Amino acid sequence: MFLCTSIILKAKKATAMIHNFNAGPSVLPQEVFKEASNAVLNFNNTGLSILEIGHRTNLFEPVMSEARSLVKELMNLSDDHEVLFLHGGATTQFMQIPMNLLNENELASYTDTGTWAAKSIKEAKLFGHVEVAGSTKEINYTFIPKNLSVSPTAAYLHITTNETIAGTQWKDIPYDCGVPLVADMSSDILSRQLDFNKFDLIYAGAQKNMGAAGVNLIVVNKNILGKVTRAIPTILDYRNHIKEASMLNTPPVFAVYVAMLTLRWLKKMGGVSAIEKLNNAKAELFYNTLDSLPVFKPVVAKEDRSYMNAVFIMQDASLEKEFLDLCKKENMIGVKGHRSVGGFRVSMYNALTIESVKAITDLMKAFASKKG
Ligand SMILES: Cc1ncc(COP(=O)(O)O)c(C=O)c1O
Repeated sequence: MFLCTSIILKAKKATAMIHNFNAGPSVLPQEVFKEASNAVLNFNNTGLSILEIGHRTNLFEPVMSEARSLVKELMNLSDDHEVLFLHGGATTQFMQIPMNLLNENELASYTDTGTWAAKSIKEAKLFGHVEVAGSTKEINYTFIPKNLSVSPTAAYLHITTNETIAGTQWKDIPYDCGVPLVADMSSDILSRQLDFNKFDLIYAGAQKNMGAAGVNLIVVNKNILGKVTRAIPTILDYRNHIKEASMLNTPPVFAVYVAMLTLRWLKKMGGVSAIEKLNNAKAELFYNTLDSLPVFKPVVAKEDRSYMNAVFIMQDASLEKEFLDLCKKENMIGVKGHRSVGGFRVSMYNALTIESVKAITDLMKAFASKKG
């Protein structure tokens, strides 16, 4: 009898609502999980798994084509902007971008806004000269630089629109920097309305706002390609991927499928403008609560706070473990800050519901009232 009750309790616990604040891979819409699971067993009623069909078939080609056209539609892209789904994670783009855009004797301009920007700078230096147009390194990356100094001869300016670890986000995009604009949007892709056509290259690992790990979204203005003199390996040359409609080699088929489902979901939700409203509401609820509770301490300058990743600490660091234990008990996962920063990080990507934000802000209030 006792055994039976404990099994039931365990099962209940396993199905209890989990609030997933992971920074990535992270929460996706439940309907995407369901459809993707069905497709592993029986893709589009073919009796075949999505995992066992050829990519050059009339079963998979429509998936790739729909995923690419949904990006075009959701971002309202011009005919010059090509959409690719490539292997390798955003980290591969740190080197693939300078390899395709920067000659050895040329200069590229980079902003140094955190761990991810610093990694992109390191890789670019392997291919040409790098200037840092603006940096907040000295102040622990707690805000976004405002006055950039970009050489007019730079091959491009690179920014990281959302720093996932530091918890900062560019609100004023330097559209008028005078040189091609390149952006790592891994952690805020399709979360807010931007003038996407003003970027010459956008890249994002899919595993936060767009789907499963294993695929990168690349949006590239084809007019900026073909200007470097070095030989580029076939698989790393964007032009080859454009020619082959993003099917130069076997694409990460399942990850592309999950991205396609997530893009369909976003369109059904009302697109980028609708999700932006929801993301604003979630961020306002979270930050208003944070600012009202002196026991917690925000670490990022107010105007540069990320609407995707809220980073904060406690006035009294000795209380941090107690709050983390409480989160765990209440099925709130992924709240621990990145190991390089400490404290807490609450990620609020597109698929996170406002109910989850309400749940954690209620918990923060209850904790504060006990300690205050
Ligand atoms: C802003 C940003 N850029 C790049 C990366 C690296 O992505 P990947 O692990 O897909 O290479 C991450 C990962 O979290 C990120 O947050």
